[in-house]
Amino acid sequence: MRILVLGDLVGRAGRDAVIAALPGLRAQLQTDFVVVNAENASHGFGLAPEMAIALFAAGADVITLGNHAWDRKEIIPYIAQEPRLIRPLNFPPGTPGAGAAICTLRDGRKILVAQAMGRLFMDPLDDPFRAVEDLLLRNKLGANVQAAVVDIHAEASSEKMAFAHAFDGRVSAVVGTHTHVPTADHQILPGGTGFVSDLGMCGDYDSVIGMTKAPALAKFVKKMPGERLAPAEGVATICGAFIETDEKGFAVRIEPVRLGGRLAPAMPGQNPGATATSR
Ligand SMILES: [Fe+2]
Ligand SMILES: [Fe+2]
Repeated sequence: MRILVLGDLVGRAGRDAVIAALPGLRAQLQTDFVVVNAENASHGFGLAPEMAIALFAAGADVITLGNHAWDRKEIIPYIAQEPRLIRPLNFPPGTPGAGAAICTLRDGRKILVAQAMGRLFMDPLDDPFRAVEDLLLRNKLGANVQAAVVDIHAEASSEKMAFAHAFDGRVSAVVGTHTHVPTADHQILPGGTGFVSDLGMCGDYDSVIGMTKAPALAKFVKKMPGERLAPAEGVATICGAFIETDEKGFAVRIEPVRLGGRLAPAMPGQNPGATATSR
């Protein structure tokens, strides 16, 4: 299966860039499935239903959220009736929406997509490791699903790496979101799970993790309440990863995707030596 996963869309810049590029990216990479994190799509905070609808129309198959899931309250009734939009699995029982989705491709193959949220330097939450353990008791790679991708929304690289190793060999890929900075550690773990600590954001990188520089800087320098943070709206770089799985659901390839804006570009197949094939 050929899977494209994009990191946190930030503001209009991120949204517009992804909506414009996604149909072409899908064709170019011949993707079977696309996952997009959109927790910051609405002016940096949350996701509005009409934005989710536009992302689905542009070619997103599943949208994930994160700690900003409920910043736009209109999403609460929407998520309750849209199974392709998921929030962290380890939110407390009774939280609207689901933390995982199983989608069927046109050819009948099934993919499980889940999101878990880390606890290090984040709000207190149920155990993400146990939540995914429970999910995988009911869903087995090569049995009821042919691929499985988990978005680990977390601050600490250590927690994300530990999380990926915990599920190595049981899911196709573990991809990190939330820090808004892409990492370069794309690899296939010994058990066959593709991993990258953070996909990076789809947003304007002439910013402080997607937000305009002056108010973000003032928060650090002055330690006084100031202007509300707003997303930087210059040209966005689309950031994500491309994953290819074999017939057993293991990753045979995980490579960076970076397109447009300020960051050095990267496209699968154009980075000699970047294809992780360590198994
Ligand atoms: Fe984010
Ligand atoms: Fe986040």
